[in-house]
Amino acid sequence: MDIKGIRITWLGHATFRIETPGGKIILLDPWVMGNPMCPDKEKTVKHVDVMLCTHGHFDHIGDAVEIAKKHTPKVVGIPELCAWLEKKGVKNTAAMNKGGTQAVDDIKVTMVHADHSCGISDGDQIVYGGEACGFVIEFANGVKIYHAGDTNVFGDMKIIHDLYKPDIAMIPIGDHYTMSPREAAYACNLLKAKTVIPMHFGTFPVLIGRPNDLKKLVTGTEIVEMKPGETLQ
Ligand code: NI
Ligand code: MN
Repeated sequence: MDIKGIRITWLGHATFRIETPGGKIILLDPWVMGNPMCPDKEKTVKHVDVMLCTHGHFDHIGDAVEIAKKHTPKVVGIPELCAWLEKKGVKNTAAMNKGGTQAVDDIKVTMVHADHSCGISDGDQIVYGGEACGFVIEFANGVKIYHAGDTNVFGDMKIIHDLYKPDIAMIPIGDHYTMSPREAAYACNLLKAKTVIPMHFGTFPVLIGRPNDLKKLVTGTEIVEMKPGETLQ
């Protein structure tokens, strides 16, 4: 599909770097240095303008504090997660909650529901991290991308289709901690995105779902299997 100047790079697991047509760099779920799926050449983050955090599990915000301190991006997340990040020294958080939309640089970000837990591991404690969420990103060229975060399938994905009509959906398929391919196929039917990019599989042995399993279960949705480090444009 034509994504009109947007560049999407998968860094493995749930982490994506998206470059907007205006040249802004967005980092979704900043788990880079510690991410075993992230290619070595991508482990040094050169620049970030906007960081979007779906929830406080380590495999989503594992490198958020370090990257944010170095590059001082605007950091979007649910208020409890943003408050925790601020406590750790992160500046420029832009907290929001589900249902809300805010403009950040040249994108509009809507926080949407996800069905998942959200404790933050902090030393030997697990602290309350608000709720897990997903994001719909609207670009200035009209393209819309939905990043589901970690979630099972839920019926209100139909609302995400009805209201936001994402062109591209990034959805977890690994099973065990999130949707399996079976649930992801159901999600494809609810979301009706033209293109689906599977994520959150293969990183750990228990994440057994694979893009081919999903491909066998869906019709009418293009399943784009990316390799870590690969860029879609
Ligand atoms: Ni999680
Ligand atoms: Mn996860």
